[in-house]
Amino acid sequence: MPTAEPAAARPAPLKRDDIPGWFFSLDRAAFGHLLSTQSAAGVTGDILELGSYLGRSAVLLGDHLQPGERLTVCDLFDSEADDEDNAAEMAMSYRKTLTRSAFEANYLAFHRELPEIVQAPTSALADGRIPADSCRFVHVDASHLYEHVAGDIAVARAALAEDGLVALDDYRSEHTPGVSAAVWEAVFTGGLRPVLLTPMKFYGTWGDASAVREVLLRRDWRAGGYTVDEDTIAGSPVLRLNYQVKPPVERSTSRRLALELLPPVATRATRRMLRTLRERRAVPPLPNA
Ligand SMILES: C[S@@+](CC[C@H](N)C(=O)[O-])C[C@H]1O[C@@H](n2cnc3c(N)ncnc32)[C@H](O)[C@@H]1O
Repeated sequence: MPTAEPAAARPAPLKRDDIPGWFFSLDRAAFGHLLSTQSAAGVTGDILELGSYLGRSAVLLGDHLQPGERLTVCDLFDSEADDEDNAAEMAMSYRKTLTRSAFEANYLAFHRELPEIVQAPTSALADGRIPADSCRFVHVDASHLYEHVAGDIAVARAALAEDGLVALDDYRSEHTPGVSAAVWEAVFTGGLRPVLLTPMKFYGTWGDASAVREVLLRRDWRAGGYTVDEDTIAGSPVLRLNYQVKPPVERSTSRRLALELLPPVATRATRRMLRTLRERRAVPPLPNA
């Protein structure tokens, strides 16, 4: 969760990681790979983000704009939500820190021009102000309520060009069942094809899923510190990416041998000695000591 520090008190971010938010390295890498592969292949189109908070993900989307392309972000920022549940969500998670001007300051720390900003509930985009088939990438990360996310997915579908990609945040968190319901409903009744799952985001397309899969497999994710797994959902393949877990640090051989070979009394004495040393911060803790 972001800090509760008021936006006005925060200095301009020096690096992208200084912007509070929930956009972490794995999804940054996935967004970067998918967007830059689109650009390299000559795919053009606008980019749309529903739910930008203080700009952590919007700044990266802006990095990938090619000449003639437009980034539009839609967020309530400091406006009131339309309904009680959404207002409660805003009060609990964002109100203390979020203002439109803080978003703008963060964005302008990394880009010369602001994106197109729609300060409104995302339902305002259902009026067709985003031209149909105009986008190559849509990031949905606004309200977590089922009715809103279902509407946001409909907006994404209308906005995306044929092989465009949608990234849907929080599709599997315990506290966001409405997002899960809307996402899997779109898959099983709305023709959305899953291509990639990360711990935080679902990536899909209404276009050619096998082409996106091929693009994803071009990168050596393992070398970057990630795991790659393949699953099938209702007969269709999907990739999963996650962080590699580093193996726990091995006990040094001499310590392990001492603890295994010494008689119990000596081992207790050794543990006592190690505990004393540890209290003086001389050695790392022993498991179960
Ligand atoms: C999880 S944050 C977005 C995080 C951001 N994408 C990032 O990666 O740092 C969700 C954002 O959605 C906005 N939001 C919530 N409900 C909304 C609604 N109905 N319409 C528009 N924006 C909404 C909140 O103001 C908040 O900024």
